[in-house]
Amino acid sequence: MISTLFLALLLGCGVDAPAPTAPTASAPTAAAKAPRTYAPVGLGSPATAEEIAAWDLDVSPSGEGLPAGSGTVSQGQALYAAQCMACHGVKGEGGVGPKLIGPDDAKTGFGDDPKIPKTMANWWPYATTAYDYIRRAMPQHAPGSLTPDQTYALTAYLLAENRVVGADFVADAKSLPAVKMPTTVKFVPDDRGSSTVVR
Ligand code: HEC
Repeated sequence: MISTLFLALLLGCGVDAPAPTAPTASAPTAAAKAPRTYAPVGLGSPATAEEIAAWDLDVSPSGEGLPAGSGTVSQGQALYAAQCMACHGVKGEGGVGPKLIGPDDAKTGFGDDPKIPKTMANWWPYATTAYDYIRRAMPQHAPGSLTPDQTYALTAYLLAENRVVGADFVADAKSLPAVKMPTTVKFVPDDRGSSTVVR
C-alpha cells in the first residue's frame, strides 16, 4: 500500500506542470515597422565652397596643392623673428615649440638615437611637407594666418638654416618639390596601391 502510494506520488510528479508550447511570435504591427521621424534640430548649415577650400589644403610630395607665390630666405628670416622665434628659439633651438634648426642632426639622423630631436634636417623626407605643415598649423596661436608668400619665405628660411638649400634659395611651387632632403633615403618606399611615396 505504501509502495503503491509512493509510486503514485512519483508518477504524479510534474502532472501539474504546464505542457511546453511552441513560442508564438506576435506579428509586428505596421506602426512598429515604420521608421521613426524626427523634426530637424536646426543646427549647422551646409559647408560653402569657400569653407571647404579653406580645409582642402594638403600638399603632396610632388608639389600638388602648392599655391602660386614665392618667398626668399631673407624674407623668411624677418618673419621668423617676428612670428616664430618666441616659441622656437632665437636660432630655432626650441623652446615652447620643438627644435626647428639643427643642420648637424643630418649627420646622425633619426633612428640612430631616439633622444636626438627630429628636425627638418634629419627627419622630414619632403620639403613640401614644411610648406604644408607651416600653412596649416603655424604660428600655433593663429594657424592659417600666413599668406602663401610668407609661408614660402618661412619654408625657404628653415630649409636654408638646416643647410638643405643655399641662402639664395627662392621657394615656390616648382623649386620646393625639387629639393633633395638629406634623409629621404632613410625612409622605405610605400608601394601599396599606386603610391610611390616614402613613409
Ligand atoms: C605659440 C608658440 C608657437 C609659435 C608662435 C610658433 N610655433 Fe611652431 N610649434 C609650436 C609647437 C608647440 C609645436 C609642436 C606642435 C606639435 O607637435 O603638435 C610647433 C611645431 C612646429 C613645426 C613642426 C616641428 C616638427 O619637427 O615637428 C614647425 C615646422 C613649426 N612649428 C614652424 C613654426 C613657424 C614657421 C612659426 C612662425 C610662423 C611657428 N612655428 C610659430 C609652437 C609655436
